[in-house]
This record gives sequence, C-alpha cells and structure tokens, in this order.
Amino acid sequence: MDTRKVHINSFGCQMNKLDSAIVTGALEDAGFTLTEKVKDADVVLINTCSVRRHAEDRVLSHLGHLKHIKETRPRLVVGVIGCMAQRLGAELLDHEAVDIVCGPAQIPQIPGLVKRALEEQKKILTVTQNIRRKCSDDQSDALDNFELAYDSDKNHIPGQAFVRVMRGCNNFCSYCVVPYVRGPEVSRPPQAIIEQIKKLAADGVKQITLLGQTINSYSFPAGDRTYRLADLLEMASEVDGIRWIRFITSYPVGFDESILHAMADLPKVCPYLHIPAQSGSDKILKAMNRGYTASEYLDLLTKARRIVPGIAIAGDFIVGFPSETDADFAATVQLVKKAKYKNCFIFKYSPRPGTRADDKLTDTVPDDVKKRRNVELLAVQNQISGEYNKCFLGRTLEVLVEGPSKKPHLNIAENAGRPQLIGRTATDYIVVFNGPESLAGELAEVEITKTSPLTLFGKIRE
Ligand code: 5AD
Ligand code: SF4
Repeated sequence: MDTRKVHINSFGCQMNKLDSAIVTGALEDAGFTLTEKVKDADVVLINTCSVRRHAEDRVLSHLGHLKHIKETRPRLVVGVIGCMAQRLGAELLDHEAVDIVCGPAQIPQIPGLVKRALEEQKKILTVTQNIRRKCSDDQSDALDNFELAYDSDKNHIPGQAFVRVMRGCNNFCSYCVVPYVRGPEVSRPPQAIIEQIKKLAADGVKQITLLGQTINSYSFPAGDRTYRLADLLEMASEVDGIRWIRFITSYPVGFDESILHAMADLPKVCPYLHIPAQSGSDKILKAMNRGYTASEYLDLLTKARRIVPGIAIAGDFIVGFPSETDADFAATVQLVKKAKYKNCFIFKYSPRPGTRADDKLTDTVPDDVKKRRNVELLAVQNQISGEYNKCFLGRTLEVLVEGPSKKPHLNIAENAGRPQLIGRTATDYIVVFNGPESLAGELAEVEITKTSPLTLFGKIRE
C-alpha cells in the first residue's frame, strides 16, 4: 500500500468534476490519501478544461506556480489530466513542471501512472492518438468498469450523485473544442447505468443527475430495440430510494417528445431542462453550425411548457461570436425575453485552436464589446428572473438540502442563530434558509419569505 498524499485540483464542467471524483476514489483504493494542501502533497493532479481560453490560462498559471515549488521539492509529481491534456499532449509534457499528461479516456490508468512517476521520476504521456476514432471495446469497457467501481464517492454533495450516460459529442458546433478532446459520442449500456444507480441508492443517494454533452441523443441498441433517454428515465424511476432524477445537457435538435412526456408522467423526473440556445440570430446560429433557427428553438420551449406545466428552463449563450453585429445581439436579447428562462449562463466567445470557427473566421468582436453584451444580456435575464421569482413569495417549496451555505447571506434567512443552509428545488432554484446541518442530504419544506433574481430565501417548516 502507498500512503503518499495526492492533491487534486479540478477545473471545468460536471463531467470533469465527475472524472475527478472517480480518480479520487481509485487513488484512495490504491492506498493514497487525499490532501487539501499542495504543501503537504507528494502528487498534484490538475483536471483541466479547454472550453475557453481563460480556463487553460488558469491551469498554465497554476503550473507556473508548481514549477517554483519544484525548485525546492524536485520529487513532487505533477500530473495534468482531462481535456487540456488531450488537446496539447506532448506540448504540455514539455512544461518543466509536468510529469504526467493523461487524456480523459486514459483515466483508469491514473493510479498506475502516479506510482510509476513517483518511482521512476520519468515523464509519462498517455492520450488518444486519433480522437475522432471510436475507442476500442476494451477501452470502453475499462472506462465503464472504472466508473462502476468508483462513482459512489463521499466527496459529492450529500445525497446527490452524477451518473455519466454517454461520453463525447458528434455535433461539431463551430466554436466548440469538445468533439476534439472528448471524442465521438458513445452511449453506455443501460444495464450498467441502472446497476450504478441502484448502488448509489443503496449508499443513500436520493438525487441522481444523468450526464451527457447532448444527453437527448442517448441511444443504445440492444437486441431488437434501442434504448433512448426516456427509457433510461423510466428505468431509473423504478429504483427504490431515488427521489429525484435530473439530466444535463440537452441539445435543441432531435429533442424527442418522449423525454417531455417522461418528465410530465414520472414524478421522480425533475421538471427542469438545461437547453442552450447560444444565440438568437439565425445568421449566427448558422455560422455556429447549430442546426436550428431561433423560432424553431422557441417552438420547442413552447412545446415543453405545454407538455410539462411548471417546467423551469435554463440556457447558455455565447456573445461576441465572429461577425455578431448589434442587430444580431438584439435578436439574442429578444430571444431571452421570449424564452423566459429560469437562468442563463452567458459566455464571451473564446477562439479555440482546431475548431472550425477559429480556422475559418476572425475573432472580429472586440473584447470590450463582448463584455458589454455579456453584462447587458445578464441584466435582461436578471430582470426577468427577479420579477418571476416574486411568485414564490409565501409558497412552501420542497428542497433537497445540500449543506451549509459557502458564502453567508446576511440577515436574510429567518431562524438566525442556526447555520445557514442551501437547498435546491426540483426545478433547480437555490433556496437559502437556517436549519440544522444534519439536514444535509435530506428533503425539507421551506416557506419562501424573500426572493432575489438568483436566490430564494425562506424559513424551514418543522
Ligand atoms: N467560447 C465561449 N463559450 C463557449 N462555450 C463552448 N465553447 C465556447 C467558446 N469557444 C460555451 C457554450 C456551451 C458552454 C458549456 O460553454 O455556451 O454551452
Ligand atoms: Fe460543444 Fe456543440 Fe457538442 Fe455542446 S453540442 S459539446 S457546444 S459541439
């Protein structure tokens, strides 16, 4: 057994957080202990994101810092895993601070690689050579088994877990690096997914979030039928102990009505849809290769609201895509006003090497314009959310309690004197209230006494 200490730092999306959790479990099983502090660590692993340049810059600055530390502690092993490892490969291994570069498909090898690097003090590179080639059955099985063995870790929010149902993406939106670092779409077998959910439920998990880059295209042929997302939702609903089921992220093309019916008919499936529009201008949507128009997207939202009354919808937008004019941006503002999202995530366009947008288009929109559009769109959304959220005043909502609030919301929640807790409704609203910490991982009823655009505040019903 190895008792050396590992520090893991994770950037990026839920997929990455899940990879970090799985790697953590595997390292603990291999006898390593985890440490919060770099100064106590024998090994530092950085799980990286390549979606925007800013995320990569943060990793590079972290590596600069680690290079300094290695001047006095040369035996410290530094590993870079995840999307940036796959994107940059050998180039990253050339960095003075880096000992291991390991792509997302190679993470089952991590415990072995770390041991080798500690013993041999040699640089190790393991990434996928041809990322768009479907991985071998052996590699796919190794990833599935790794997932099944370790996706039940204690580092999650109490009572909650993420379950990957598919890897990769086939969409090639022109700005996006994901298809080049996570490879082609591969759906996991439904039996493995359900087995994993049963295991999590037996460990006390109440909410599962199914993960996929374009989760509505989940498709697994078996015998004379093909399992789709709606089938998975139905099968997951039958697992005892699971109370809430979510899924992210949906893609507006090929969004089967059966998913909306599953949401409407299965009480455990949360009425929440994260479905990025990215832009409200048809010209920009075309240049983004999204495959739909603004009005087709809005029609889908109307259908979702008709089939699932009370559904909450969240979106993503990119502002400042090449050639986006004021008129294009105004169309995005119009779409946000019509879509009536619960919330939106808004990003400034960041050119990604190797993507079609970066190859063919010039990053024409100046940064200050991107920034201004970002702030303006957020303000439009906040105004909508602020007004809408007032309808919750006086209502009692069921929340799944996550635990103590990380940042204190001063004097707003009632029952002062008890810790301030955070919970989420089935529709993904954040609710802040005071109550005992022992409620973490439990469902609770909270009466809403105050609202803001992003958060609801209330008083627990005891
Ligand atoms: N620049 C800015 N935002 C991006 N996203 C993806 N690629 C880029 C990029 N190159 C955003 C999209 C996506 C979210 C996860 O990140 O809005 O939905
Ligand atoms: Fe990227 Fe588009 Fe795939 Fe989402 S659907 S991961 S934005 S290529």
